[in-house]
Amino acid sequence: MKHIAIFASGTGSNAKKIIGHFKHRRDISVSLLVSNKANAPVLETARENGIPTLIIDRRNFYHSEDILKIFNQYSIDFVVLAGFLWLVPTYLVRAFEGRIVNIHPALLPKYGGQGMYGMHVHEAVFKNKETETGITIHYVNEHYDEGAIIFQARCPVAPDDTPQTIAKKVLELEHRHFPQIIETLLHDPAVQAHPKY
Ligand code: GRF
Repeated sequence: MKHIAIFASGTGSNAKKIIGHFKHRRDISVSLLVSNKANAPVLETARENGIPTLIIDRRNFYHSEDILKIFNQYSIDFVVLAGFLWLVPTYLVRAFEGRIVNIHPALLPKYGGQGMYGMHVHEAVFKNKETETGITIHYVNEHYDEGAIIFQARCPVAPDDTPQTIAKKVLELEHRHFPQIIETLLHDPAVQAHPKY
């Protein structure tokens, strides 16, 4: 059994899709939901699905490695960031090298980096009159949105699109692809063979 920890601090629509995708599986399970917001709606989704939740605070996350002990308790193999805005500390990037992924709502390397999240991304795409946008699933390193790209999917931006309609199209793409890409990665022999800690 492979165990996933999802980090999410927003609405959690991606987390919900991932949880649903693996719900009845015997080989892959979402075993922990981590958030830095005690009132994030995504926590309710986790509870409804019987998934343990962990609220982290900045000091502990950056100045201790406690979370690795907790990951050990839950036998976490793979980490998915789905709407988590904090930079991942080096100790965690190292411990999960090649086993920690993020989804970004644009075609990186365009429209990435600090401050480029949520509607800021879609407003920038709109302002620049891009004719296409999309999603990027990438490995996570110590820099915002700079890890190696694993997968991208594109959608056209029409002249009558608004930042809101762009956001909707992009979110649909995320929901369609993210669970499947996570599944593919979990079947990758490199991830399979990775020793725990
Ligand atoms: C998504 O757009 C994702 O690309 C970004 O954060 C957003 C999370 O949305 N990293 P949701 O909370 O999953 O609805």
